Amino acid sequence: MKRTYIFKSERLGFRNWLTSDLEPMARINADEKVMEFFPDVNSKEQTLNFIDRMRSQFEAKGFCYFAVDKLDTNEFIGFIGLSEQNYKAEFTPCIDIGWRLKNSEWNKGFATEGAKKCLEYAFNDLKIEKIYSIAPKVNSRSEHIMTNIGMKKLYEFEHSMLTNNERLKICVLYEMKNINYSNKT
Ligand SMILES: CC(C)(COP(=O)(O)OP(=O)(O)OC[C@H]1O[C@@H](n2cnc3c(N)ncnc32)[C@H](O)[C@@H]1OP(=O)(O)O)[C@@H](O)C(=O)NCCC(=O)NCCS
Repeated sequence: MKRTYIFKSERLGFRNWLTSDLEPMARINADEKVMEFFPDVNSKEQTLNFIDRMRSQFEAKGFCYFAVDKLDTNEFIGFIGLSEQNYKAEFTPCIDIGWRLKNSEWNKGFATEGAKKCLEYAFNDLKIEKIYSIAPKVNSRSEHIMTNIGMKKLYEFEHSMLTNNERLKICVLYEMKNINYSNKT
């Protein structure tokens, strides 16, 4: 079955979430390697709540952490996308870019390719002024994607949702501004 996508990159399709994504996303969220830089793995129920939140956000705002398929096989491999963040911090409320892919698909350039396309969509189609990205400082793999896609490091900060987690609480904050928007102001 040929799927319709909101937008595509060379090898990936970006779409709203389907009920059939629950099982594969729950497996990704239960993988300790994938969740190494989170306080814990996520249960199936947490995954269901996450998918519900993403669907609602997509309906309300036109973006979410998009479900991502490989175009050659239609296989769902995780998410890359945009989400509102409202936790207590100097830079919130804001919209961030984030990513989580199944371990067997790592190091094939998918996060870099997909995140670049999401930034283009955010700036050219959604006309968002700026996008942030946040990761625990120890998650060097994620920070590497931020620099790879041209984001600039602003500073490190203590995350208000991770204050009790010595390993994860210091996070990096990266930013990319919409050039078109900046030119107009
Ligand atoms: C972060 C993640 C999305 C990256 O996905 P990916 O598709 O493997 O990323 P890419 O293949 O596009 O790029 C990987 C890059 O990281 C580099 N890399 C690999 N391991 C690394 C490490 N331990 N530290 C730093 N860089 C690393 C690779 O060399 C490659 O860089 P290059 O393009 O300059 O050669 C994936 O690892 C993931 O899902 N991690 C778990 C979820 C997560 O931590 N999300 C972020 C939460 S803040």
